[in-house]
Amino acid sequence: MFNHTQPSLAPETVSVTVRPARITDLPGLVELLCQLFSIETDFEVRPARHARGLRLLLGAARRGRAYVVVAERLGEVVGMATVQIVVSTVEGARSGWIEDVVVRDDLRGDGIGTSLMASLSHWARTNGLARLQLLTDRRNRLALAFYDRLAFQTTHMICLRTHCPARHGQAAPPSANRGREDQFTAQFRPRKLKKEQHVSPRFRAG
Ligand SMILES: CC(C)(COP(=O)(O)OP(=O)(O)OC[C@H]1O[C@@H](n2cnc3c(N)ncnc32)[C@H](O)[C@@H]1OP(=O)(O)O)[C@@H](O)C(=O)NCCC(=O)NCCS
Repeated sequence: MFNHTQPSLAPETVSVTVRPARITDLPGLVELLCQLFSIETDFEVRPARHARGLRLLLGAARRGRAYVVVAERLGEVVGMATVQIVVSTVEGARSGWIEDVVVRDDLRGDGIGTSLMASLSHWARTNGLARLQLLTDRRNRLALAFYDRLAFQTTHMICLRTHCPARHGQAAPPSANRGREDQFTAQFRPRKLKKEQHVSPRFRAG
């Protein structure tokens, strides 16, 4: 696993170390995610959920399927970024989803974000990933400028989503899911097939 630390320039010549996250970083990481999700209005700020997600990611990182990188300054976590491995059938190879890119608000614009992305890119290359991709809020002009500087290209794709009833791998109490479950099941019920799409029993494989 990629495991090097990388000193980088920081304001007032205080050095910043970019390194893989540890479980002890969790409180600082949750704080950073709260800053991020308060900007990204598609998401809610829910610290307990973010902590649960980070634990899952750190577990995936231990198995080599993800990488969580942090920027540490004066013993404090001041920036983070994550990448998770997925399979791309387009590329015929593994690719990486980048998420959770954020730098503490008073330290932005000093190169920390670029160092975090350089570390993700190094990890991706080392792990043979064919492509890196991410989503960003189309109204976040500063983030768009940041990714543009790093040679990320915009695409014609848009993000669509739906929530599953039992979320976050937790067995939700039946009462919590009742309405949602029905709606979810209904939404995936096949529409009536056109006559010619029905397969006659005669032609079924077997
Ligand atoms: C986007 C972000 C991670 C970049 O980190 P950073 O440490 O500020 O970035 P760097 O200093 O390495 O790079 C600076 C470049 O990023 C852009 N930028 C983004 N936010 C900026 C900010 N608040 N201040 C200055 N530059 C910013 C500019 O294009 C800048 O380039 P320039 O110096 O040529 O003007 C950071 O600004 C941030 O946390 N923003 C809020 C959270 C967010 O939007 N995350 C992205 C979610 S997809």
